[in-house]
Amino acid sequence: MLNFSFYNPTKILFGQNQIAKISKEISPEARILLTCGGGSIKHNGVYDQVLAALAGRTVLEFSGIEPNPTYETLMEAVRVVREQRIDFLLAVGGGSVIDGTKFIAAAAPFTGEPWDILAKRAPITQAIPLGTVLTLPATGSEMNSGSVVTRRATQDKLAFMHPLVYPRFSVLDPTVTLTLPPRQVGNGVVDAFTHIMEQYLTYPVNAPVQDRFAEGLLLTLIEEGPKALATPEDVAVRANVMWCATLALNGLIGAGVPGDWATHMIGHEITALHGLDHAQTLAIILPAMMNVKRDRKRAKLLQYAARVWEINSGSEDERIDAAIERTRAFFESLGVRTYLRDYGIGAEAVPALLAQLERHQMTALGEHQDIDLATSRRILEQALAA
Ligand code: NZQ
Ligand code: ZN
Repeated sequence: MLNFSFYNPTKILFGQNQIAKISKEISPEARILLTCGGGSIKHNGVYDQVLAALAGRTVLEFSGIEPNPTYETLMEAVRVVREQRIDFLLAVGGGSVIDGTKFIAAAAPFTGEPWDILAKRAPITQAIPLGTVLTLPATGSEMNSGSVVTRRATQDKLAFMHPLVYPRFSVLDPTVTLTLPPRQVGNGVVDAFTHIMEQYLTYPVNAPVQDRFAEGLLLTLIEEGPKALATPEDVAVRANVMWCATLALNGLIGAGVPGDWATHMIGHEITALHGLDHAQTLAIILPAMMNVKRDRKRAKLLQYAARVWEINSGSEDERIDAAIERTRAFFESLGVRTYLRDYGIGAEAVPALLAQLERHQMTALGEHQDIDLATSRRILEQALAA
């Protein structure tokens, strides 16, 4: 196992009726800004539950944080935070609202140009404290220190991480996910699955705890994910999917093992240029990545085939082929298509995607930093169509 330091300060309030407890987590004097997306929380009762829990508190509101949150929108919220002297941010929504709120938290007290936090990794020294009420299990943002923001004007989708933007608390009430459209349920399972794969599918470092954790989470998503679509009213299923997605990217399974975030980095460029949902890009890139990197990932691919899909017969390459096909079929069974052509994107799009990767210094990706632009080209070409 590799050396690591592990830190995660986010308090999780899990289960039904936990929204009612948030007032205990926020100082009574706080001037709170509730941040949210395009309106889902106003139709499914979550907004009313949050306001009831914060009765008597000073609560302002900023709505309209879009999927793949934009710098342009978030800077409007930064102005509100500064003008209204906000000292607590409450993000109510999916990964986009939470990520956007983390950026607001870091940008509001920042003295320079806040875009530099993303583009130049400018150091931040303070952030407004934040809490979250999660409505879409997928990103893990509710219990991690990452945030991904898009600048619409320049089509840059960039990430930053900082311990100051860990949520102070996150409410995980699975009942609030019952109103998710099937597309977002499928997306969430694919995103969480890919997060686990990117911390698991590298090379062995004698870390059986992390491997068994990762395999357990993958198997849980394989078992519970389809149930969330087939029996959408089943709260127990939603609870399992929700906790799985949080554990997939809260730092635990990635501590002490190598990571390969190339699928995400290439995927972000597809969203930046073509507007696909985050998880759609992962469903496209991950199978192609597994195939192109089969030699250097061979040992873990065979372990994945055997332990997750029970594929034990055939040559090594046949087992790897079968594992890749099972992964692709799993994503497709969740309603998430796995080729660029399925989204109307053809070979003519590849050069611009490679140019984006180059512009963002994404030219040495993967656990061995050996995914250069030529390798990314092969991955994108394989991802075009069957
Ligand atoms: O905007 P509203 O009206 O709230 O509707 C949202 C949105 O349209 C809707 N939704 C959310 N909860 C709902 C609901 N609809 C009905 N009922 C509910 N309970 O779902 C739509 C998508 O929401 P969004 O927040 O965009 O989805 P997701 O959670 O998948 O977040 C995706 C973003 O997270 C980033 C992605 O890049 C993308 O920008 N990521 C963040 C990560 C992190 N912070 O660690 C890691 C991830 O890999 C990812 O990159
Ligand atoms: Zn993701």
